Amino acid sequence: MQNMLEKTIKEMNSIFGDDVKRINHAMEVLKHSSAIYNGESPEDGTRIIVELAAVLHDIGIKQAESRYNSTAPVYQHREGPPLAKKVLEEAGVDEKTASRVLYIIGNHHYRSKIDGPDFQILWEADLITNLPEFPVFSGNYAKFEKMVNFNFKTRTGREIALSLRKRQ
Ligand SMILES: [Fe+2]
Repeated sequence: MQNMLEKTIKEMNSIFGDDVKRINHAMEVLKHSSAIYNGESPEDGTRIIVELAAVLHDIGIKQAESRYNSTAPVYQHREGPPLAKKVLEEAGVDEKTASRVLYIIGNHHYRSKIDGPDFQILWEADLITNLPEFPVFSGNYAKFEKMVNFNFKTRTGREIALSLRKRQ
């Protein structure tokens, strides 16, 4: 298990190359994904799915930029899964696990596509990582709290999100 994750991390590093910002982002999302998973420990044993999806969720972004000159979700969702599929195959990830990871990667910008705790955890971890950059983060506290309550379904994710900012 650990080996598959390590191989995937290595490959993500080589695909992103000198783009340290994106490598750091993926590792940060992985960190929060693991923390939420540990806090929630869903009974379905999806840890490896959550972690692989975290590492690879934005993997199509460079190709989206070079092919379409855009990072719009539609292009990232189109370019990510084929690239991730190769990485997962090479890391020795079984087909069932890989197909779930690819579904999450190919839909990860759409809240309406969340269809299970694994996807929900990735959604929350990505959001936690990006949260400080959102205008809602530095604005009115009640609005921030409302946004958190709307997006966060796990107790652990919600706690991490709220802990990023002081109550006002
Ligand atoms: Fe992301």
